[in-house]
Amino acid sequence: MTSTMTRRDERLLVGGVWREASNGGRFDVTNPATGEVVGSAPNGTAEDVRAAIDAAAAALPAWRATTALQRARLLRRAAEVIRERVEEIGMIMTLEQGKPLGEARGEVEYAASFLEWFAGEAERTYGEVVPPMNAANRVLTLRQGVGVVAAITPWNFPAAMMTRKLGPAMAAGCTSVVKPASATPLTAAAVLRAIEDAGVPKGVVNLITSRDSGMVSRELFGDRRVRKISFTGSTEVGKDLIRASAHQVKRLSLELGGHAPFVVFDDSDIDEAVDSLIASKFRNAGQTCVCANRAYIQRGIYDAFVAKLGSKVAALAVGNGLTAGIAIGPMIDDRGVEKADEHVQDAVLRGARLVTGGTRLTGDGFDGGSFYAPTVLDGVTDEMLIYREETFGPVAGLTVFDTEEEVVTMANDSIYGLAAYFHTRDYARLLRVAEKLEYGIIGANTGIISAANAPFGGVKESGYGREGGSVGIDEYLDTKYICIGGVGV
Ligand code: SIN
Repeated sequence: MTSTMTRRDERLLVGGVWREASNGGRFDVTNPATGEVVGSAPNGTAEDVRAAIDAAAAALPAWRATTALQRARLLRRAAEVIRERVEEIGMIMTLEQGKPLGEARGEVEYAASFLEWFAGEAERTYGEVVPPMNAANRVLTLRQGVGVVAAITPWNFPAAMMTRKLGPAMAAGCTSVVKPASATPLTAAAVLRAIEDAGVPKGVVNLITSRDSGMVSRELFGDRRVRKISFTGSTEVGKDLIRASAHQVKRLSLELGGHAPFVVFDDSDIDEAVDSLIASKFRNAGQTCVCANRAYIQRGIYDAFVAKLGSKVAALAVGNGLTAGIAIGPMIDDRGVEKADEHVQDAVLRGARLVTGGTRLTGDGFDGGSFYAPTVLDGVTDEMLIYREETFGPVAGLTVFDTEEEVVTMANDSIYGLAAYFHTRDYARLLRVAEKLEYGIIGANTGIISAANAPFGGVKESGYGREGGSVGIDEYLDTKYICIGGVGV
């Protein structure tokens, strides 16, 4: 294992100045693979949040007045600078978040791709000339940036979830205040340093790190200058934000929890489906909102599937993400480990069979870290916790099914509606099932569905709004209608 990185002590970014919190407070950032402190960040105060909103509001008129082409150029340059720093940012991410270095590098690339994608969308924020109802009038629509935006971002993808919000905000001519998760402030700061070094003007993006998320939210939701808030995180917190948004009728985009079904029909290529489930389930140690969380395997291939999946999962190398060859890093903290273990123990108690894993990993190579063995459970039923709740850990629970109709009903039986996956070689079935699944994102014959050009988002209690794709910028634009009377015919 090698780490050339020394400890990083980051700062807030307010109006182009990197500075300490107003009261000098800081908090430590720890490595979930070792428990060691790898750096620290300012514990921003209410005064700091207000200063960041002031800075974003002050920068807005000039930023809004830039042309789409100027903003697009800066976004492309920012993507380039992020890519040039892939090693540095990837290393920071592995150290504070835990994901294997290869995955971290991949996320840096994914983060850059959002800026590049929205550079293109900036250039296409067209309005319309609408045929009038009154012949003497002329009717136009304009699409204009909403104003100051706040981005509240999660720890599981500390770079990409931030640029997925900042890319469209900047493209639309909005200025922003970012509040990253307190577990991963160092990656957020490193990405913002790259954006700043690309030449983005002072105050266009501002960073507030703080342990007091409730206070930061209250300040953001209580300030009329903040016109839109985009949040990625749990459904529970998302519901609080919906309530908070009512007071000033603030626009919200919410990418919340998921509980993805993963269906394998018996006409599938079993090896492909096993690899696809592993890719979906075990990416980032199972800590993604779009992770498969309920796997339904058709009876004809069930036993063969369980055996192949069990042996491949048992071979996944677990350890510190800086070590070459590691496939699964630590979980973000011990609470994550406890939840995964609770789901496994509950399932076993209620009759599921442990195919592989099922334990916290301790001892040599794991000391001080939050590791859970990649796990496969066979015979999961609907009375088990893992069947009903998002596990957010490296645990795959398998359930047998008989018919297409039955599995579509089971797959849709959830309060969540973010991502769903299925495998089949029957293309009529592929279209039928994709249409019937009540989810915002469908992976058909693939376990990896994330990309900057795709409209990412959920239905039901998985939230609303879309990030990425051609519609991602709409979340940051208001449509204005202009009616010009008395023009004549
Ligand atoms: C998430 O887990 O919230 C996002 C994952 C992704 O973009 O693939």
